Amino acid sequence: MTILVTGGAGYIGSHTCVELLNRGYDVVIIDNLVNSSEKAVARVAEITGKKPAFYKADVRDRAALDRIFETHDIGCAIHFAGLKAVGESVRMPLEYYDNNLLSTVRLCEAMAAAFLRAGHRRGGKRDFFGKIAIKFGVITKKPDGCLAIITEKSGLFPKRRERMH
Ligand SMILES: NC(=O)c1ccc[n+]([C@@H]2O[C@H](COP(=O)([O-])OP(=O)(O)OC[C@H]3O[C@@H](n4cnc5c(N)ncnc54)[C@H](O)[C@@H]3O)[C@@H](O)[C@H]2O)c1
Repeated sequence: MTILVTGGAGYIGSHTCVELLNRGYDVVIIDNLVNSSEKAVARVAEITGKKPAFYKADVRDRAALDRIFETHDIGCAIHFAGLKAVGESVRMPLEYYDNNLLSTVRLCEAMAAAFLRAGHRRGGKRDFFGKIAIKFGVITKKPDGCLAIITEKSGLFPKRRERMH
């Protein structure tokens, strides 16, 4: 499976990329390098022996996201791209809302559009959103085959087979 990691050149993102690549996933990174360096991506490749696809772009850039989803068969996205300095967020809240909220909205829109492009449009609205939710992990399949919505009360440490498969 190919996993899109936004903010994949950052601290948490780059470590996640190493873990994903070591577990056999293909990784695509989008990062605008506002708080990181492309050297981190090179280090990920050095450590794992596998080169993730890297796009220097802003997650709020819908056209850039669409190009990535058209180029790669993304099965899952992990969204780490964001600004997170506490003091700065108090000084410039609107910039933080813009960066962190709009990037999430644009990413969800691009995922929904990619899902439709992939030709999965069958049935009504509910079916459509249900399938998006399953594909992108908002809903999980329990071992007994029943679907369960992931809520704040869901277990923090799902069993391995419940993760991303
Ligand atoms: N570091 C921690 O201990 C910690 C703990 C809990 C949660 N988090 C969360 O994890 C996420 C990542 O944190 P981090 O510590 O890795 O931060 P980081 O700054 O190291 O990484 C964030 C990455 O996102 C990129 N980025 C920011 N805005 C972007 C945008 N609009 N488009 C594309 N790329 C963008 C930055 O260039 C950077 O590489 C944040 O949401 C943070 O709040 C971090």
